[in-house]
Amino acid sequence: MQHFCYGNTHEILRCCGRISWVIQVLNEFILTQTLRMSITEKPDPKTDNAALLKWVNKMIEMCKPESVHWCDGSQAEADALFAEMIEAGMCVKLAEDKRPNSYLFRSDPRDVARVESRTFICSQNKHGAGPTNNWEEPRTMRRKLRGLFDGCMKGRTMYIIPFSMGPVGGRISQIGVEITDSPYVVVNMRIMARVGDKVLEALGNDGFFVPCLHSVGCPLQPGETGPVWPCDPENTHIVHFPEERTIVSYGSGYGGNALLGKKCFALRIASTMARDEGWMAEHMLILGVEEPSGQKSYVTAAFPSACGKTNFAMLIPPKEMEGYKITCVGDDIAWLKPGPNGKLRAINPEAGFFGVAPGTSNDTNPNAMASCSRDTIFTNVALTDDGDVWWEGMTKEAPAHLIDWKGNDWTPESDSAAAHPNSRFTAPAANCPAIDPDWEHPDGVEIKAIIFGGRRMSDVPLVFQSFNWSHGVYLGATMGSERTAAAEGTQGEMRRDPMAMLPFCGYHMGDYFRHWLRMQKVCSVIPRIFHVNWFRRGESGEWLWPGFGQNMRALRWVVDRANGRGYAKETPIGWMPHYHDIDWRGLDFPEEQWDQLMGFDRERLKMQTLQHEELFLQLFDHLPKELIFERELLISRL
Ligand code: OXD
Ligand code: MN
Repeated sequence: MQHFCYGNTHEILRCCGRISWVIQVLNEFILTQTLRMSITEKPDPKTDNAALLKWVNKMIEMCKPESVHWCDGSQAEADALFAEMIEAGMCVKLAEDKRPNSYLFRSDPRDVARVESRTFICSQNKHGAGPTNNWEEPRTMRRKLRGLFDGCMKGRTMYIIPFSMGPVGGRISQIGVEITDSPYVVVNMRIMARVGDKVLEALGNDGFFVPCLHSVGCPLQPGETGPVWPCDPENTHIVHFPEERTIVSYGSGYGGNALLGKKCFALRIASTMARDEGWMAEHMLILGVEEPSGQKSYVTAAFPSACGKTNFAMLIPPKEMEGYKITCVGDDIAWLKPGPNGKLRAINPEAGFFGVAPGTSNDTNPNAMASCSRDTIFTNVALTDDGDVWWEGMTKEAPAHLIDWKGNDWTPESDSAAAHPNSRFTAPAANCPAIDPDWEHPDGVEIKAIIFGGRRMSDVPLVFQSFNWSHGVYLGATMGSERTAAAEGTQGEMRRDPMAMLPFCGYHMGDYFRHWLRMQKVCSVIPRIFHVNWFRRGESGEWLWPGFGQNMRALRWVVDRANGRGYAKETPIGWMPHYHDIDWRGLDFPEEQWDQLMGFDRERLKMQTLQHEELFLQLFDHLPKELIFERELLISRL
């Protein structure tokens, strides 16, 4: 049986233990020279990293590409790739006077989103992955993958993308190398991560990297051009080997399935690394709150999907709250690590936004609109007659004619949506007018507060603070969101999504909660934890809270509390603001409505709390006792 060998630093180190130091040094020297010779026959790799060269060579042998290209990350390289893709009919360039330096792609309609059912955590044993992940025995999975990858890049170019998650060389940053046969992946990775020569330089001769192998799974016969959006949906596999820190993805060219730095590395593999090394990889936005005094506090927040994470990350405060300013560090992922003084510092490991387009407008999020006003890759949105893009919710009235995401004529009378509901913009974070001046600080920014949230229409108050860290971890662990009407399933049905990490945690959820609890011991000062709910409705279904920019009022209270200022009353569920603890300047919000918004029904909440049993039972053998005690305490307080 063959071993599907990635030749990563871990593997090499394990092997090295078995041989003497002298032989090892000699061998490595010969190996490096041989690999350099065999690869430099192909374009120049600009690296002497033996583990990297060994892995690349093995992948070339297995995938059998027609040519190999080491990406340097330059604008010229991106321009050449876009020109090739336009020529091949894969994308169109948008009108330069409307969206400078921007392109539109349309995917295969079978390849439009992350596929959780085909995502695997192949830890050595099933308990490592836990009951909330798909698991397969690693050797069996490797055998399967070897079959899929054998010759999968025939007739195509293999691109090698060295990338850094986080500022290159930063204290919290990590390096990955993605091998892919998709030029679409190359140009997207160039926006979403720092890529190219500077990363190889930082990697050096013996630096650690996460090998990420990707193929769309469409080899070409001589003379064949293949489909404009190659993919192999029947065989899609997105596979993580957490102990080896490797990722293998086959069959999809879309989003998180293919841009392996994002969910695969920055969350699934990084969460495992973080557990082992005493830091945290979280599905969280990071924002800065600047007060009129000039004091700045940074906050992270985890919300399940469809809860307005990007909007909150780029919030514009009401103008009456003069002097308050929000800056954005990241909209999706945060890596948090204790700094030298033991306080948690966070970076956004990404360099761009991979935002959902529908619903984004100058009313809902002008900062996101500005971010994608140029230098942006759009996927599956509609094309206007004057060479711009459009999606549902961008303007109140739809244009009279469009080309929809499937490439067909579209008018407002058409039955289907012009843009796919999961259509995206890939935009450089540097384009965002609200980007924080320290968003690329190599040591990250100090985090004062962590916010959990969900879509809870009928029960949870607007904002409250946990009593302490373990109560806060309990709030995150039992986080849930009610499904929206049109989307999936029955309206109002609760979907539990602990810390918004259910599809992204690379190991057992019970152990993940334990790691959260342990972080309190690792940090000298731990951030305060809060819970918010922007989605509460009244008895006749009306929204009780205006949301969007007005969320700044709850955020101000959060920041005041996190800084040891601000008043609150103790309630069974946590510390809550009184009506007069909120900054109401410029908003006429009646006190009776506030009471409705902040009220809770003890019996109903008690029932809800008992329902946490379902999740806890699923995780029972790895569940930290603290969470059971927290639940008992909550029930008795209620
Ligand atoms: C995303 C997600 O695409 O969370 O960011 O699904
Ligand atoms: Mn996300």
